[in-house]
Amino acid sequence: MTPNPRGSQPESTCTRSAARMTRLIATGSLALLVAATTAAAQPRKANPSDDLRPAYATSADVAEGKRVADGLCARCHGVAGISATSGVPHVAGQRPSYLYTKIKAYQSGARDDHTMEGAVKFLNDDALVKVAAYYASLEPAPPAAAEAASKVAAPLDPVAAGKAAAGACAGCHGETGVTATSGTPSLIGFDEKYFVAAMNAYKSGQRQHDMMKMVAMSSSDTDIKHLALFYALQKPSPAKTPSSGNVAAGKAASAACAGCHGERGVSTNAANPSLAGQDAEYFAAAMLAYKNGKRSEETMKLAAASLGDAAIADLAAYFAAQQPQQPKVTKPLTLAEWVQRCDRCHGINGNSTDPRTPAIAAQRIEYLQKALKAYQGNQRRNSVMAAMSASLTDADVASLAAFYARQKARPFVFVMIPSN
Ligand code: HEC
Ligand code: HEC
Ligand code: HEC
Ligand code: HEC
Repeated sequence: MTPNPRGSQPESTCTRSAARMTRLIATGSLALLVAATTAAAQPRKANPSDDLRPAYATSADVAEGKRVADGLCARCHGVAGISATSGVPHVAGQRPSYLYTKIKAYQSGARDDHTMEGAVKFLNDDALVKVAAYYASLEPAPPAAAEAASKVAAPLDPVAAGKAAAGACAGCHGETGVTATSGTPSLIGFDEKYFVAAMNAYKSGQRQHDMMKMVAMSSSDTDIKHLALFYALQKPSPAKTPSSGNVAAGKAASAACAGCHGERGVSTNAANPSLAGQDAEYFAAAMLAYKNGKRSEETMKLAAASLGDAAIADLAAYFAAQQPQQPKVTKPLTLAEWVQRCDRCHGINGNSTDPRTPAIAAQRIEYLQKALKAYQGNQRRNSVMAAMSASLTDADVASLAAFYARQKARPFVFVMIPSN
C-alpha cells in the first residue's frame, strides 16, 4: 500500500484534492465516495470531531504516524502492526476511523484497558490521527493457520453435547427424558430456564436431594445448558409409570393450578414447570415436600397446604394422564448463520467496508475471543456488540473466533478522487 503522494509544491485547493488519494475501503461504497468527494473538495479543516480524518491522511502524515508507532506501539503491536503477543490485537490494515476512535476511547477510559491507556495517554489528537492512518495503510496480517485455529475452536454442536451428557441421566430419567421409574421425574416439556434453575437449586442446596446434588455438582454451567436444550427438543410423551388416583377428581381440583401451570399442565411461563405427563409418585412427593417445607417455595407451599394425601394423589393422576408438549426452544444458530449476521456489519468474511467498523478477518484468535467475552460481560461497553454477543455460547465464541482468524484480510483500496 503506497501512501498518498502529496507533492511539496504549492497547489490550489482544487488540484490538491484531485491529487489526494483518499483511503476508501473495498469497492463500490457509493455513499462513502460521495462523502469523501465532498470532504476532499474542501480544504482540510482541523475539525477534531471528524473521525474520518485518518482516512484522508497524506503520505507525510503516514510517515509521521510511523515514527509514533515505532517509538510507542511496536513493542506490543509488532513491527508492522502485526502482533506476536497474546491478547494484543493486530492493528495493521485495520479501518482508519475505528483505530482513531478506539485509541481515543482508551485515552478517555471509555474503553477500559490500563495497558493501552498508559501507552496512549500523552498523545495529542494530531498524533492519534497520524498513527491511525499509518496502521490503516499497512498490509494486514496473514490468516491464522488451520491447525492453530482448530486448537482453540471447539466445533461443538450443543444438541449433540447435551445428548452425550444425558447419557449419565438415562438410567434414572429415561433415554429421552421420559421416565419409566416411579419417583423419578420426566425431564421433557420443561422450559430451558426452569431446567437450569432446578439444576442450580440442587447445586446450591436450596433443593435438597443428595443424589441430584452430586449429579448437578459434576455438571458445568455449559453442560447444564446443553442438557436443558437436549431435553427441551425431545419428543414429549407421558411418563411410563403407574398412578393410582382418581383422574376425574384430580381434573376438578386442577382448576386452582391452571393460572400458573397452564391448561392441562402445559405451562407457558418459564418460571412455572409444566406438569403434563409427569410421574405421579414424584408429583406427590414434590407436593408433600412443599407442604412440609423440605422444598421451600412460598407459592407452592400455599397451593399445597390445604391438600390431603388423597387430593394430591388425584391431582397426580390427572396431570400424569395429560399430554406434555414441547416447550418453545430457541434453536441455536449454526456457525454459518452466525457469520451471516456478523458480516452484515463486519463485511464479507470480516472485511469491513465501513471505516468506523472494525475488520475482524485474520485478527488474532485469542484476541477475538477476549473481545467477544468483554462485550458479553460488559467490560467493553458497546450496546451493539453487547446485544450481538449476548446469546453466544462459549462454543459459539470459540468457533466464530476461529472462523474469522482464518479468513483472508483484505487491505484498503486506494481510490483517486476525480477532480470536478
Ligand atoms: C504495553 C503494550 C501496548 C502498547 C505499548 C500499545 N498497545 Fe495498543 N493494545 C494493547 C492491548 C493489550 C490491546 C487490547 C486491549 C483490549 O482488550 O481492549 C490494545 C489495543 C489497541 C487498539 C484496539 C484495536 C482493536 O482492534 O480494537 C488500538 C487501536 C491500539 N491498541 C493502538 C495502539 C497504538 C496506536 C499504540 C501506540 C501509540 C499502542 N496501541 C500501544 C497493548 C499495547
Ligand atoms: C440415580 C438416579 C438419577 C440420576 C443418575 C439422575 N437423576 Fe435427576 N433426579 C433423580 C430423582 C430421584 C429426582 C427427584 C429429586 C427431588 O425429589 O427433588 C431427580 C430430579 C431431577 C430434576 C428436577 C426435575 C423437576 O421436575 O424439577 C432435574 C432437572 C434432573 N433430575 C436432571 C438430571 C440430569 C440432567 C441428570 C444427568 C446429568 C440426572 N438428573 C441424573 C434421579 C436421578
Ligand atoms: C402462583 C403460581 C402457582 C400455583 C397457583 C401453583 N403452582 Fe405449582 N409451582 C409453581 C412454581 C413457581 C413451581 C416451581 C417451584 C420450585 O422451583 O420448586 C411449582 C412447582 C410445582 C410442582 C413441582 C414440579 C416439578 O417438576 O418439580 C408441582 C408438582 C406443582 N407445582 C403442582 C401444583 C399443583 C397441583 C397446583 C394446584 C393445586 C399448583 N402447583 C399451583 C407455581 C404455582
Ligand atoms: C450491527 C452491527 C454489528 C454486528 C451485526 C456485529 N458487530 Fe461486531 N462490532 C460492531 C462495532 C460497531 C464494533 C466496534 C465496537 C467498539 O467500539 O468497541 C464491533 C466490534 C467487534 C469486535 C471487536 C473487534 C476488535 O478489533 O476489537 C469483534 C471481535 C466483533 N465485533 C465480532 C462480532 C461477531 C462475531 C459478530 C456476530 C456474532 C458481530 N461482531 C456482529 C458492529 C457489529
